[in-house]
Amino acid sequence: MMINLNEKYRAIAESIKSRIPFEPQICIVLGSGLGDFAEKVETELSISTSEIFGYPKSTVQGHQGYLHFSMYKNKNLLIVQGRIHFYEGYRLSECVIPIHLAAKLNCKSVLLTNAAGGVNRNFKPGNLMLATSFNGINIKKELTQLLGLATLEQRNNFLDFPSSAFNKKIREAARIEKIELKEGVYWFTKGPSYETPAEIQMISKFGGDAVGMSTVHEAFYASYLGLNTASISCITNYAAGLSDQKLSHSEVMETAELVKKDFERLVKKIIEII
Ligand code: HPA
Repeated sequence: MMINLNEKYRAIAESIKSRIPFEPQICIVLGSGLGDFAEKVETELSISTSEIFGYPKSTVQGHQGYLHFSMYKNKNLLIVQGRIHFYEGYRLSECVIPIHLAAKLNCKSVLLTNAAGGVNRNFKPGNLMLATSFNGINIKKELTQLLGLATLEQRNNFLDFPSSAFNKKIREAARIEKIELKEGVYWFTKGPSYETPAEIQMISKFGGDAVGMSTVHEAFYASYLGLNTASISCITNYAAGLSDQKLSHSEVMETAELVKKDFERLVKKIIEII
C-alpha cells in the first residue's frame, strides 16, 4: 500500500503518542559509536523502531534503532538511537522523521550528535566540536525540496541557526565539566564512502572544520519547525589525506569509545542546565 509522506508522518506520530509516558522536552540524536549514552540515564519506555509501521530501517553497524523515553535531572528526554542516513538510500524527508516526531511530541530542543572527520588541523581524534554553522551545499537541492513548504515565519527560524542561546549553554556545560570543546563548521558529504584527500582540501579551503554524513538536514528541519537546535561532533579521525592512517568505520567506533566518558558528562550537564 502506498501512503503519502504526510500520512506516513502522521501515522508514525499517532502510533507513538498513544504509548508514551510523557511529552519529551529535549530530543537527543546519538551519533555513530555514541549510542551507549541511552543506557546512562533512566528510561521509562524504549520502542524499537522496527515495531513502528513506516519507520525506515537503519542498516549501519553501531546504529541500533530505538526511541527511548528517558529522564535525567527532572528533564524528559527523547533519545534517538539509530539514525537514518541519506547514504542508506533514504530521502531526506525520511531521514528527518525523528525530528518531525520530536516536534509533534512538543519537544522544544534538539541536540544532534555525530561522529565526524577532523578537517581543521588543530583538531585531534577524540576532540569534541560544537557546530557554529553548517554547510549543506552538497544537498542544497534536496534541502530546498524538504523545506519547500516553509511559511515566511518558519523561514526566519534560520536566522538563529544553530541556536545561539543553546550553543551558549553548551559552552557553559563544557566549562563546568572542564571538557575541551572545539568549535567550527560541520560540512555534510553524501557518502557512503569517505572523502578523497582532494575533497578534504577543498572543504578545508572553503571553511569546513569537520566532515560527516548526517546532521545538516536534521538541523535545518528542526530549526524550520522552530526547535532550538545544536550539534556536537565527536572527531573520530583525521579527515582523508591528513594522516597516513587508512580511514575505517572501526576506527570511528574505537575513537568514539574513548571519548564516551567526556561525551556522557557533557551531555548530562547540558540536560541539567538547559
Ligand atoms: N568523513 C565522513 N564522515 C565521517 C568521517 C569522515 O572522515 N568520520 C566519521 N564520520
